[in-house]
Amino acid sequence: MSIRRVFSKWKKTRNLQSSSLKRYIPETAIFNYDRLGEMLTRHKMVYVKPDKGTHGNGVMRVKQHSGTSFELREGVSTQTLNSLDSLHAAIKTRIGKRMYLVQKGIHMMTHRGRKFDLRVLVQKNLDNKWESMSILGRKAAAHKIVTNVSNGGKMETLSKLLHSRLNDASIRRLGRELEQLGVSTGRELSRTYKGLKELGIDIALDKSMHPWILEVNTNPAIYVYRTFDPRAYRRIFRNAKAYGRFGQK
Ligand SMILES: Nc1ncnc2c1ncn2[C@@H]1O[C@H](COP(=O)(O)OP(=O)(O)O)[C@@H](O)[C@H]1O
Ligand SMILES: [Mg+2]
Repeated sequence: MSIRRVFSKWKKTRNLQSSSLKRYIPETAIFNYDRLGEMLTRHKMVYVKPDKGTHGNGVMRVKQHSGTSFELREGVSTQTLNSLDSLHAAIKTRIGKRMYLVQKGIHMMTHRGRKFDLRVLVQKNLDNKWESMSILGRKAAAHKIVTNVSNGGKMETLSKLLHSRLNDASIRRLGRELEQLGVSTGRELSRTYKGLKELGIDIALDKSMHPWILEVNTNPAIYVYRTFDPRAYRRIFRNAKAYGRFGQK
């Protein structure tokens, strides 16, 4: 049986929003004028991103400043718009007719002034059970709104990113909580999507360390672990081989 991939972020997010994992899912809607306005009123900062994007491409961030002044960012460019109409028009110019999502923006934790989020890699193991294999941090390049490695982000260990705020025992506890969240996500999504075998879950920690699932990738990178988590890599590779990532068994 081939490995199931689900590319629509909306389908995966909606599934998790209506599950017991709801409290880890930032409010998300299909982008349109009304949803953009409502979400900005509620959250003051939102992300606008392609339903089927990858690598951080096309991801925008909007902040509402005082009154009706908005800051729109994409890549390293910034635009200021002075009404919701002109903001919506500026975003529409970029997205055309493609489907985009609008999502509550998470104020990510920072390390030496750079935002970071986490990548939890979850696989079906040799016993056909979901298992979290690795947790790595990804630190955004200077002035970037996305942490993707293909956008200049850097992989770091969880302990390096957190040791100035948490002691070792607390970091380990957080790690276990995130592993459990990874396993629950695998179980939940595979109720609907049979044949999922591997997930790369992007998780942001907010300033109070609450984990928020930004997206779930069903086609995660695995070679990065050879360099950045070599202890986990052997088992990751073995699982991937067993479920047929490299072709027929
Ligand atoms: N709601 C959000 N709040 C804060 N940052 C976000 C949010 N959504 C996305 N990002 C940032 O943008 C990056 C790319 O978004 P993501 O949803 O993972 O799409 P992609 O498929 O392009 O990786 C994330 O890793 C994160 O750094
Ligand atoms: Mg991502």
